[in-house]
Amino acid sequence: MSFVKNQIIRELTELDTQLLRRKIRSVDTPCGTRIQIGGRELQAFCSNDYLGLANHPDLITALSEGAQQFGVGSGASHLISGHQTIHDALEEKLAQTQALSIPKAKALFFSTGYLANISAITALSNLKSNASKIYSARLNHASLIDGVRLAKEQNNATVLIFDHHNLGVLEDELKEDSSQFKLIITDGVFSMDGDLAPLDPLLQLAERYDALLMVDDAHGFGVLGRHGYGILEDSGLCSERLIYIGTLGKAAGLSGAFVCANELLIEWLIQKARPYIYSTASSPALAYALIRSLELIEGPVGQERRESLRSNIALWKQLAQFTHWHLLDSDTAIQPIMIGSNETVLQLAKDLDLAGYWVPAIRPPTVPVGMSRLRMTLSASHTHDEISALANILLHLELLN
Ligand SMILES: Cc1ncc(COP(=O)(O)O)c(C=O)c1O
Repeated sequence: MSFVKNQIIRELTELDTQLLRRKIRSVDTPCGTRIQIGGRELQAFCSNDYLGLANHPDLITALSEGAQQFGVGSGASHLISGHQTIHDALEEKLAQTQALSIPKAKALFFSTGYLANISAITALSNLKSNASKIYSARLNHASLIDGVRLAKEQNNATVLIFDHHNLGVLEDELKEDSSQFKLIITDGVFSMDGDLAPLDPLLQLAERYDALLMVDDAHGFGVLGRHGYGILEDSGLCSERLIYIGTLGKAAGLSGAFVCANELLIEWLIQKARPYIYSTASSPALAYALIRSLELIEGPVGQERRESLRSNIALWKQLAQFTHWHLLDSDTAIQPIMIGSNETVLQLAKDLDLAGYWVPAIRPPTVPVGMSRLRMTLSASHTHDEISALANILLHLELLN
């Protein structure tokens, strides 16, 4: 035990020295744009509650109605006795959101996006084939990266990392690839940069070279598309090669995730996705509340809130005229301000905290070394005054730096 303890202390000290040690901050109040921490009020620009649904009164009521009607716990995994008819109802509704993009779409509900991603990648690459090749975008989310690592270890998949800004290398590799199983994986909205994946050309490559295309739309579901159905609705693409991952803990305001794909692929996931098979099914009360959340997202509430979010993003882009700090080319609610060093970004996050704002400092390994940033996220619940006030403070801080 003494080796373990001493080594942990040594490695924690290293993290401290590199300014990479992470800390949990406990929030006293419900998720919102104004929160309290340790009795202090802060204006929050850090959550993924893009539509401000995390505390919508209808969802609070729905969660308690769901608990009354279906109970709070499922009691077992989906394939034992934990799958209730309310899970079916949710999955049917989730599948409908992608019905125009994926022929014969079915959906499978997971307790988190992390598990959905690991499940889809490992199960799909677990087919008997001459070889499995995975093409994964460089800036993909950690859960996709971990899924790919597992596929490599468990299924002997080989992996190529590609740059989503330059698909030439991807095409060159695909051209030469004789693997029977090929899977291209990309974030829909890149979670740290905020830009959109080039889905149209990616799907063309998938069609041309007989690959599947998996899109993790954690930050697009609820926000993109006329009904908030996400990046596939927004792009108007349709193909049985598409595998869609939506998460329900961000714009949908609750928690959970789903994989949506052609019915045969979903059947394969039910047989082979270990995190699905060996994990207790999510609360049926949650499934019930999520159906209400989907109704809000596709109805007038969602449409109004998407409009407010769009207007907030446009205002921010107009106000954030920095001289030295660089903004990324993002039209989404994720608006990073590139700073560079860990030290500077941490100091800025501290200065903002003192001024009453919470904008998180994002450092490696979440982003590449030297690309630390303030990752500001906007919500439909922010007011124009709040955004203007934050922009003024940031412009002032830039002058001081
Ligand atoms: C792009 C992306 N995919 C997947 C996830 C994981 O989703 P969840 O939080 O539901 O596990 C996240 C969440 O942070 C994400 O940003």
